[in-house]
Amino acid sequence: MQQDQGQRYPGFATRAIHAGYDPLDEQGALTPPLHVTSTFAFGSVEEGAARFAGEAPGHFYSRVSNPTVALLEQRMASLEGAEAGLATASGMGAITALMWSLLRPGDELIADSHLYGCTHAFFHHGLTEFGIRVRHVDLSDPAALEAAISASTKVVYFETPANPTMRLVDIEAISHVAHRHAAQVVVDNTYATPAITRPVELGADFVVHSATKYLGGHGDLVAGILVGREEAVQQVRLTGLKDFTGAVMSPFTAFLVMRGLKTLELRMQRQSASALEVARWLERQPQVRCVHYPGLESFPQHDLARRQMRDFSGVIAFELTGGLDAGRKLMNGLGLIRRAVSLGDAESLIQHPASMTHSVLTPEERAEHGISDELVRLSVGLETPGDLLDDLGQALAGLSAAG
Ligand SMILES: Cc1ncc(COP(=O)(O)O)c(C=O)c1O
Repeated sequence: MQQDQGQRYPGFATRAIHAGYDPLDEQGALTPPLHVTSTFAFGSVEEGAARFAGEAPGHFYSRVSNPTVALLEQRMASLEGAEAGLATASGMGAITALMWSLLRPGDELIADSHLYGCTHAFFHHGLTEFGIRVRHVDLSDPAALEAAISASTKVVYFETPANPTMRLVDIEAISHVAHRHAAQVVVDNTYATPAITRPVELGADFVVHSATKYLGGHGDLVAGILVGREEAVQQVRLTGLKDFTGAVMSPFTAFLVMRGLKTLELRMQRQSASALEVARWLERQPQVRCVHYPGLESFPQHDLARRQMRDFSGVIAFELTGGLDAGRKLMNGLGLIRRAVSLGDAESLIQHPASMTHSVLTPEERAEHGISDELVRLSVGLETPGDLLDDLGQALAGLSAAG
């Protein structure tokens, strides 16, 4: 029987459902089995030694690899257009395992000026403590990278869209500059997912994800993943993940992420369409000063968004005319939309970055990251858009009523 592991299909949704798995290899089980085991028995000492040496295929210990986790890794690599993947216990697990593998004392990391709060904290309170230089550059301007990069720059790191401002970075242009100076490019693709943007196809060396968000998609897990070239990913597996952090993903989490991936494209399309509707509506409200959403014609980088993104994702950042107080009242006045951090879930979630996800930054650092005290971040879920508008409408009306 000819094996079809789904890899040959050009369709993204097809690969999200089939890549790497043939039910006929597993007694016809349509859903890939869950391999709940920490270790693997060897037929002989010689076989075990060969597996350890990488001279024979097969797993030997689930901190290094596991069949269920390996299937997710293969599937994600296929979706991102990369050679290999590595699953981790969290998004921060992916970022830390990768950075500890790529950087040495004396090296320089250039990171974008807009970043997720804990990534910023890791760079500044983790890497710098071990002799790695971290510099922030506004990577929305490739000329700024050209001016800042040097022979000691080993990694260029950014998110696009960035958390929480939605500011974009031109992946192709930045990769071009970085590679001319022999630096590697790492893109956090959490906000876009490969359903919308595939950084490796645009020149990036590695992609990292908080799979907690859209990839899982149901708010019931914490997970991370990275993809890149085969040899480089294997190096991260055997050092950054196996020895330095140990932040491995459990087989059950891998099973749940794969279930999420089956509907990833559908969810991204629906959440993008709903977010565009909500963003356009918010722009028309007198209580709203500014809406940051790549799908809006008013978004300063709308042209780049159209070039680099198939859709515009489901996250909107906005600021109210009444400042921080108005933001607080708006959030407390909501009923259907949940006050919670995280994003990419079926439920719409709203949070206040200055006091929540980015509270680890100083006020000066937040200003550098483009995060005002008034900024509110809304992750638009899968609910009926009209119900979300009703909820936002009654909460905004409450602001006016309160003066
Ligand atoms: C853009 C981005 N990267 C990384 C992370 C970290 O992921 P995790 O919470 O899964 O560790 C987050 C979490 O919010 C994020 O938003």
